[in-house]
Amino acid sequence: MTSTSPSQSAPANRGVAFEDALQVAAEAAAYSPSSHNCQPWGVGWAIGAVARHAAAKLLGESVGHTAAGSGHTAQDDGEYLVLALDRERQLTALPSHEAEMLISCGAYGEVLLRSLATQGWPADRVRFVDPAPAAHRPKDGNTDRIFGGRWPDAWMPLCVVSLRHSDTSGDLAELSETLHARHTNRGPYRPDRIDPAVLARLSTSRPGPSLLRAGPEYDRTVIVRHVVADAERAAVADLVSRHGGRDFSHRLAWRETHSFIRHDEADAEAHGDGFTLGQLFGPLSPPRRFGMRIALAPRTMRILRHGGYHRILARQLAAMVRRSPAAVALCFDDETPDAEAVVRGGAVLADYWLEATRAGLVLHPVSVILQHDDVRAELEQRLGLPGRAFFVSRLGRAVTTFPPSHRLAASRALRVV
Ligand SMILES: Cc1cc2nc3c(=O)[nH]c(=O)nc-3n(C[C@H](O)[C@H](O)[C@H](O)COP(=O)(O)O)c2cc1C
Repeated sequence: MTSTSPSQSAPANRGVAFEDALQVAAEAAAYSPSSHNCQPWGVGWAIGAVARHAAAKLLGESVGHTAAGSGHTAQDDGEYLVLALDRERQLTALPSHEAEMLISCGAYGEVLLRSLATQGWPADRVRFVDPAPAAHRPKDGNTDRIFGGRWPDAWMPLCVVSLRHSDTSGDLAELSETLHARHTNRGPYRPDRIDPAVLARLSTSRPGPSLLRAGPEYDRTVIVRHVVADAERAAVADLVSRHGGRDFSHRLAWRETHSFIRHDEADAEAHGDGFTLGQLFGPLSPPRRFGMRIALAPRTMRILRHGGYHRILARQLAAMVRRSPAAVALCFDDETPDAEAVVRGGAVLADYWLEATRAGLVLHPVSVILQHDDVRAELEQRLGLPGRAFFVSRLGRAVTTFPPSHRLAASRALRVV
């Protein structure tokens, strides 16, 4: 954990057991999926007086008035975490990336809280932070500093969570095994249909310990829609074929995507983020890898685009979609979801992806058909989706395994505040 060592700051009667659990949970949550594997998340452990008072206040708890600086709150036996978006790590090339970042943070938050719950630290309250609440704005005008001076400048707080120790715990080993088995698989899938009972189970909302997916006072929902009929899969493939090239032909978006493509495994490991060509396209012979590296470079792509190379790549992706036995769309029931709904959507995605992994299924998101409003609207209309789609993916059983992508050190996302 960076910034301040918790053992230096945590009161003697609190924190050691939680610190251990938090470290374990952060290790687990680091394996969450994120767009381009950019890992745009952070989590602050509120230990300091300012941070604990702010967290308690946001959660509507009474704040104790003992010695200033003690960090005393109504929940002295409890802990507070603040989930954040790390703006230094976010994707920015497309307006739709804003939602993808919140979804990624929601997925991270879900895994983090789930891991803490399995270690006997379930969340008991969650409160989302209004992006610019005048009432909470400190005098220096920095809206993000309500959690004190140790709060990183680049972090935008998303929600505050309180956790209390409980004697009930869960199966941490099983969670960890599932997390490590979950990888984006961009290869071909077996054509045989997926058992409808498995899909039905995946569509059902599961009660969970994290409170991020749904809290007691949260009544909006995420709808899971599986796309299995030939005509519907053909409709998705048609959209990918017609519009999937936009990613490659959009200068800024492709430059940003390309900045996450790593030269080789060693480069990916050194960066701790992004992906290799092997993770994107499966195993490649050295000459093919060399050719792809040249073809995908933004400068070459600008030239090749005139010859329609981006359309060839889109058609290849469309063929993969067409041959997959299913796709899945996650939709908000609300046409204009706020930040809270989007973060919660990310938590639902994490839950879905883990459950699919347990069922022996793999996913390959196809976000390009959601990133432009006209294409997304056509997708929603052609599939008759209920509400606004925020995640679309191929779904099936893998033919080939894919190498896991690399991660930044888990401690990078943790701060004591
Ligand atoms: C919101 C979101 C959107 C994504 N969109 C795409 C996508 O369009 N294409 C793709 O190949 N992978 C996509 N991914 C998968 C990420 O690239 C992947 O999670 C990341 O590289 C980490 O790899 P892993 O899932 O194998 O751990 C998306 C992931 C998330 C969370």
